[in-house]
Amino acid sequence: MQDTLTALVAKAQPEFAALTTRPEFEAAKARYVGPNGELTALMKQMGTVPKDQRPALGKLINETKTRLQSLLDAALAQIETAELRAQLGPAVDPTLPSPDFGPGTYHPLTLVREEMCRILRKVGFTVADGPEVETEYYCFDALNTPADHPARDAQDTFYLPETARFANVAKKTPEEKYLLRTHTSSVQIRTMLKGEPPIRIVSPGRVYRRDTTDATHSANFHQLECLYVDQNVTVRDLKALLDYIFASLLGKDTKTRFRPHYFGYTEPSFEVDLTATHLPKVKKPWIEIGGCGMVDPTVFADVGYDPEVWSGYAFGMGLERLAMLLYGIDDIRYFYQNDVRFLKQFA
Ligand code: DAH
Repeated sequence: MQDTLTALVAKAQPEFAALTTRPEFEAAKARYVGPNGELTALMKQMGTVPKDQRPALGKLINETKTRLQSLLDAALAQIETAELRAQLGPAVDPTLPSPDFGPGTYHPLTLVREEMCRILRKVGFTVADGPEVETEYYCFDALNTPADHPARDAQDTFYLPETARFANVAKKTPEEKYLLRTHTSSVQIRTMLKGEPPIRIVSPGRVYRRDTTDATHSANFHQLECLYVDQNVTVRDLKALLDYIFASLLGKDTKTRFRPHYFGYTEPSFEVDLTATHLPKVKKPWIEIGGCGMVDPTVFADVGYDPEVWSGYAFGMGLERLAMLLYGIDDIRYFYQNDVRFLKQFA
């Protein structure tokens, strides 16, 4: 019997070592230790062995069983390692240089933003920044936008929950709500409250409105705001600056025109159209590009500037609209999809 058991282990050893798949493993296991297995058959012979030999034989059988089990464990571990290796694929050498995907490209909105800032820096403007989470004061109140103005409606503005707290954005009054800024005009107020005139700032940034997305609308988009405060600033200065920046960006054949409009923070106020039919894909003779005007005396008074001494102009425009014109893009959604086929067209 002892010899039979030793022979059984000797036979199992190479068989188990050669197992490579789980079905093979299960079959081999059944052949030896399953209900109809070889070891099980030997165990059943115990009854025929004389009583006095049984304890010694029982010990031997147990040892054999343990031995077979450890061989099975080793075989299973080997199969699992092989499976993991197959899942991981070929070995990676982390010290090799990464594949060369070539240089990236700037996003078209980044290109237009930087170009506009460059054009404006040339004539003395510096870049100013403001938070995208704003309070009603900076976004509306200080800009002379009354409490019942439609722009303040929850249909147009994303208000934040009353429980929201923003340590970096201070409220003027506990009642006022936090919101996502609907325009970059809030930076005008922040800049004027921080410093003294003369002021010449450009502030590009992200803004938010409750718009349903389509080819020309997006719930978040980008604006570029300018504010100039000095003595004896006139509408002529405003018109001259707009002519200069659009001619610089879109070509010298670009012309602008003003249409009277209403904004609470400027008086008089205008909408700005431009004509740029020399650009490919531009068919309409006049395209609305933004709003502008002479800073309203109420706004000056609110930030503590004497309206008798200081005058100024301000304007704001959509960066997407500009980029669409410049590059002949016909759907605003391309800007946000991060499709490399779109992005890599802009150098
Ligand atoms: N804030 C306006 C908008 O979101 C644009 C605008 C109009 C900005 C007149 C100005 C301005 O600075 O003076 O449509």
